[in-house]
Amino acid sequence: MTVGDIYRAQHARSLADREGFWLEQADAIDWYRRPDRALDDSRAPFYRWFPGGELNTCHNALDRHVDAGHGDRLALIYDSPVTGTQRRYTYREFRDATAELAGAIAALGVDKGDRVIIYMPMIPEAAMAMLACARLGAIHSVVFGGFAAKELVSRIDDCAPKLVLAASCGVEPARIVEYKPLLDQAIDMARHKPAHCLVLQRPQCKATMVDGRDLDWATFVAGKPPAACVPVAATDPLYILYTSGTTGQPKGVVRDNGGYCVALHWSMKNLYGVAPGEVWWTASDVGWVVGHSYIVYGPLIYGATSILYEGKPVGTPDAGAFWRVIAEHKAVALFTAPTAFRAIKREDPDGKLLKKHDLSRFRTLFLAGERGDPPTIEWAQRLLKVPVVDHWWQTETGWVICGNFVGLELMPVKPGSTSVPAPGWDLQVLDAEGHAVKPGEIGAIVGKLPMPPGTFPTLWNADDRYRQAYLAEYPGYYKTGDAGFIDADGYVSVMTRVDDVINVAGHRLSTGQMEEVLASHDAVAECAVIGVADELKGQVPLGFLVLKAGVEQPDSEIVAEVVRMVRDRIGPVAFFKTAVVVARLPKTRSGKILRGTMQRIADSQDYKAPATIDDPAVLNEISVALKPAGYARK
Ligand code: COA
Ligand code: AMP
Repeated sequence: MTVGDIYRAQHARSLADREGFWLEQADAIDWYRRPDRALDDSRAPFYRWFPGGELNTCHNALDRHVDAGHGDRLALIYDSPVTGTQRRYTYREFRDATAELAGAIAALGVDKGDRVIIYMPMIPEAAMAMLACARLGAIHSVVFGGFAAKELVSRIDDCAPKLVLAASCGVEPARIVEYKPLLDQAIDMARHKPAHCLVLQRPQCKATMVDGRDLDWATFVAGKPPAACVPVAATDPLYILYTSGTTGQPKGVVRDNGGYCVALHWSMKNLYGVAPGEVWWTASDVGWVVGHSYIVYGPLIYGATSILYEGKPVGTPDAGAFWRVIAEHKAVALFTAPTAFRAIKREDPDGKLLKKHDLSRFRTLFLAGERGDPPTIEWAQRLLKVPVVDHWWQTETGWVICGNFVGLELMPVKPGSTSVPAPGWDLQVLDAEGHAVKPGEIGAIVGKLPMPPGTFPTLWNADDRYRQAYLAEYPGYYKTGDAGFIDADGYVSVMTRVDDVINVAGHRLSTGQMEEVLASHDAVAECAVIGVADELKGQVPLGFLVLKAGVEQPDSEIVAEVVRMVRDRIGPVAFFKTAVVVARLPKTRSGKILRGTMQRIADSQDYKAPATIDDPAVLNEISVALKPAGYARK
């Protein structure tokens, strides 16, 4: 046996004996009715996993552990340095609180298949809200707190929720983010009006309630008869999670129940190498897919203890915050974004703060959400002296596409690579004509259909968009939207997006959406937004504005206004802080804006004017315009 044989055998079987492999994994889940088979491919390219199966995801995450005698085991540890609070819930306590909340939600008329928007910060009630919806077979859609009201509007109108579950505020280190005014504004603007909002009043800020529509969480929920788990089809949606597309209209990624439960359970053991009852920590946000899968569903379905952390890697109170949490709660693994480690490294490059804490139980660091740059990975390896595993995934896929399957066996770590494909993924790298490239050559990374369980079966109310956006360009394959290469050992490196998605501090954002906002400014004739390299955040957005003829308003005023507009319409998380005014944009003769070349110029990289460029002189103008802002130093 050589290292990697165990992984290779499992991966090969997942493709050659799909039914056998996945039905075996499905045994780890409690079913009311066992699935007839693993895959339903009768409506390809719309695949469904575990047809005929009936289950309840909340039962699998909570009740079954209590029923199995683990009711006193900790399910959730809430650690909130921003409010100075900690709370612990056993599986029994968490099940009971969730069942009571589900009872309250049911009393508001929410039924199987109804949608519920959850607009809440990193507090235990957010996880409870997700699970309470799952308990009733209702479909939740969590909206990240760093988005502006308009982002809520597009989600409300797209999924038409009966109910919104909200908290009065989020707590950022430097300010209280009042959620309720944003929610009120969003409901005013939306075409669809949810019947009710159940609002959790946090001590940090009291929300004003709208009579007849809004209900106080604490008083309304208390004493409601607990709701039982409702059986749903394996193929029924568990949640919708909106993610950035190429336009202002986000894509509603649909997640099913059965495939997701099976995949997450498999991953906790075989990818993350955690045992039930151990403490697991994902430092992300329930507003992102990583939070859905590995703060809430994955660890709980598996019977581990999950830490829910309301804080930052630095500043709450210092760059030792992560070490404190790991040591205090005896976490065996941490999953976070490389940007968090860059932030820690910047403040404490020698890791002095680590020495104050006992990390003897800590076994593995997992990174994802953006490219894991080798210097950060190597720094973390040196500091923590444990394997640092970069793994690649997307909102669409729900769990990992590539990783190092520590629970099976740790394969060699190659900094800069996300290691090898997860079971069910048959990946290829294709050139512009759709032909496979040689090992080591960069191209578009695609996955042969069907994708494994847990991945998205479609987009909410948008089968055509699903097909167009992901399946049309390479028939028979899922287009990941990422470019990279596969080396001779089968290791996959993910280098960049092929579309206008950028990754800012592990947050996925659309430059196309930002361009729509800039273009709506009265003085702007044309615009472009690109992602430029940033030492801390990986990438940050940078805008280019071409003004309408005759505009007399000073450039600086226009720039300040568009910065404000992006913050107001997309949200602070977009981190749009800079724009430059230019006379014209570089374009091809057919009128396509040369964003890639602009990015190379801004990042001070070598660039060549493409053969199709309309007027090469524009590139020099761009370079000159960027220098005062600190870009294009070459
Ligand atoms: N609710 C409201 N506002 C939020 C928010 C939330 N949940 N999260 C972030 N914001 C706001 C911040 O307050 C900030 O606003 P400001 O412009 O008024 O200061 C803005 O959005 C940008 O926030 P952030 O990206 O967090 O930048 P930062 O400079 O405050 O912190 C890091 C930098 C690296 C510490 C931070 O980005 C981080 O922890 N990143 C990890 C990301 C992550 O876990 N991603 C999940 C994928 S695994
Ligand atoms: P999200 O849907 O928000 O999870 O973002 C998914 C995108 O983040 C992917 O398409 C990649 O572009 C990027 N990404 C996530 N993980 C990695 C990784 N480990 N390496 C490189 N890019 C990553």
